[in-house]
Amino acid sequence: MKRLIDVDSEIYNAIKKETEREMYTLELIASENFVSEAVLEAQGCVMTNKYAEGYPGRRYYGGCQNVDIAESLAIERAKKLFNAEYVNVQPHSGTQANMAVYFSVLKPGDTMMGMNLSHGGHLSHGHPINFTGQMYKIVPYGVNKETETIDYDEVLKLAKEHRPKLIVAGASAYPRFIDFKRFREIADEVGAMIMADIAHPAGLVATGLHPTPIPYAEFVTTTTHKTLRGPRGGMVMCQEKYAKLLDKNLFPGIQGGPLMHVIAAKAVALKEALTPQFKEYQNQLQKNANAMAKRLQEKGFRLISGGTDNHLMLLDLRSSEITGKDAEEALDKSGITVNKNTVPFDTRSPFITSGIRIGTPAVTTRGMKEKEMVIIADLIADTINNIKDEKHHEKTRKKVKELCEQFLIYKERLV
Ligand SMILES: Cc1ncc(COP(=O)(O)O)c(C=O)c1O
Repeated sequence: MKRLIDVDSEIYNAIKKETEREMYTLELIASENFVSEAVLEAQGCVMTNKYAEGYPGRRYYGGCQNVDIAESLAIERAKKLFNAEYVNVQPHSGTQANMAVYFSVLKPGDTMMGMNLSHGGHLSHGHPINFTGQMYKIVPYGVNKETETIDYDEVLKLAKEHRPKLIVAGASAYPRFIDFKRFREIADEVGAMIMADIAHPAGLVATGLHPTPIPYAEFVTTTTHKTLRGPRGGMVMCQEKYAKLLDKNLFPGIQGGPLMHVIAAKAVALKEALTPQFKEYQNQLQKNANAMAKRLQEKGFRLISGGTDNHLMLLDLRSSEITGKDAEEALDKSGITVNKNTVPFDTRSPFITSGIRIGTPAVTTRGMKEKEMVIIADLIADTINNIKDEKHHEKTRKKVKELCEQFLIYKERLV
């Protein structure tokens, strides 16, 4: 067998460097995580070779008996994990999952509501540069200026005024629980459907640590690679009565052949998510987010909405001259990876921003606990307080590496 190193040394080296980066730096991007070796193994398997248009037991290709096992297991496990009536595990990504739902219930020109991107929403919830913003009439809702939490009264007011066909409940940069029951009540007042996008808190929802949207939303979408700790991809859950409509709109509606190797890896991740260890992990990542938020506040930083209920927090830098971009770059030099993020009512552009988003899923996977969160919060604070001091960043990078060495991941991959 010819190995990657012999066939393509450039890609081999890029992968090796990425392995080292993941190993020796602190990954605090709220939407990222480290999958298990078992998930990686499944994703790198021969199922990548197989065309399987259609669904288990009803494919347009022969030879699907083995991939059918993988997809059926993924579906069965997802149903059990989320207590869902019906699941489609084929979306290539979170955006594809959302698109499949939109195509199932909306026609071009229909009205939908989604959270404003600059208040924490996602591009695929109606941003003008996304297909949603181009195809549908979008009514964005946001957070209350005082509480910085979703303004449900405003959502109701807007819904009554615009009579949307669909309301999207979910976010990418929102540190608080989402009240899906309240969304249901609002939707019922105006006869709208609900799509809950739980891409971010999916792992917390699966383990009962975040309220579930399952009884309240007609459709629930998620990515599989964030708190859920699976391979990069998407998934849609829905009430049984919408199953056929959803399947048809996903394939052949918007996708072709499913990525069967990724579906196999989704099945593995979902099996892992059904274990007591996964619940412990979710519990720890939530505790870690809390510990880090508390320490950052003790260090004098302002957090949007005053803290966190989930796995992420939004640090508000508006009281200083420092931008989100400055902070992201300085932290990167220090070996700490975060992303710049707009804060609600931000006056800076999404390329500059006035905040950073920080999440604990990946560092918790490494085995770090509250004690390490305090250390990391102190490193973040020191880096931002010494933003222009390159020597300081170099020193911090060394400290970060030492900390990471105590919590190694993917050890056997470094030769
Ligand atoms: C809430 C939410 N929905 C959907 C997506 C889209 O997922 P993907 O990047 O897989 O298309 C994201 C990604 O960050 C997200 O945060």
